[in-house]
Amino acid sequence: MQPTRSRPLLSIAIASGKGGVGKTNVAINLSVALARLGRSVMLFDADLGLANADLMLGLRPTLTLHDLVAGRVDRLEDILLEGPDGLLLVPSASGIGSMANLTPAEHLGLVRAFSSYDKPLDVLIVDTAAGVQDSVTSFCKAVQNVFVVVCDEPASLTDAYALIKVLHQEHGLRRFRVICNMLRDPDSGRRLMQKLTSVCTHYLPDVVLETAALIPMDDKLRTAVQKRQPVVSLFPGSPSGRAFIELARQTDRWRGVDPDMGGIGFFVERMLQRA
Ligand SMILES: Nc1ncnc2c1ncn2[C@@H]1O[C@H](COP(=O)(O)OP(=O)(O)OP(=O)(O)O)[C@@H](O)[C@H]1O
Ligand SMILES: [Mg+2]
Repeated sequence: MQPTRSRPLLSIAIASGKGGVGKTNVAINLSVALARLGRSVMLFDADLGLANADLMLGLRPTLTLHDLVAGRVDRLEDILLEGPDGLLLVPSASGIGSMANLTPAEHLGLVRAFSSYDKPLDVLIVDTAAGVQDSVTSFCKAVQNVFVVVCDEPASLTDAYALIKVLHQEHGLRRFRVICNMLRDPDSGRRLMQKLTSVCTHYLPDVVLETAALIPMDDKLRTAVQKRQPVVSLFPGSPSGRAFIELARQTDRWRGVDPDMGGIGFFVERMLQRA
């Protein structure tokens, strides 16, 4: 069954290689800022190990993607939670392991549940786990845009490079949008981009990197995390809040530009394809 959609769906995965660099904060703040621009946004918590998008949005799921996969419920609406500004959260399925290893019945149930979701949806944002394992790459190859979050630490750069390499060499992805996070000043963001670009140009010449955002280190963001609210809701005028709002404006402009890869049902079918 094809979902009825009034507009093309823009899909984005947030990944990083290294853990703790700010993926979930990018995911929740970009989602809420896009929702505030009037878009219907779904945030898919694809961290199958340590899911915490729900916590950071102040939500408490009773059912998760795991219940959908296990067939305890059969509609996507049964597990969706509503967050700030009407944002919809698909709570993570901790305990599944990898989406690439579902049984045929689980696979079919999931595709059916997503394909029959027929509410209008403008943007799908997927928050992934740390690492470069199948459970991360399967989500990245199912979306139109991959945002790679890096911060100014050698391990973050090497892990971001390792992620880009796997997605390029094993899954054919070419274009990546880079978010430099926790920056002490704008220059450190530019230097970070130069380092990543120079290693990619040397070893992966077909890869195209673009700077998507430079997000400052911001105590207000930490306060917002403690209060379980997105910084764009609690402190929209803070340095990181403003940077996320600008990222959302830019992202919103691509909606008409990026090719339509189909609706949310199509995303789930691609996500479940074996390597
Ligand atoms: N711009 C920022 N300014 C200040 N602190 C930040 C910023 N971004 C992230 N942090 C801090 O880093 C912590 C980790 O962020 P977050 O959970 O978003 O990272 P993650 O990449 O999703 O981690 P994981 O790999 O464990 O999923 C936050 O709780 C916050 O304290
Ligand atoms: Mg996270």
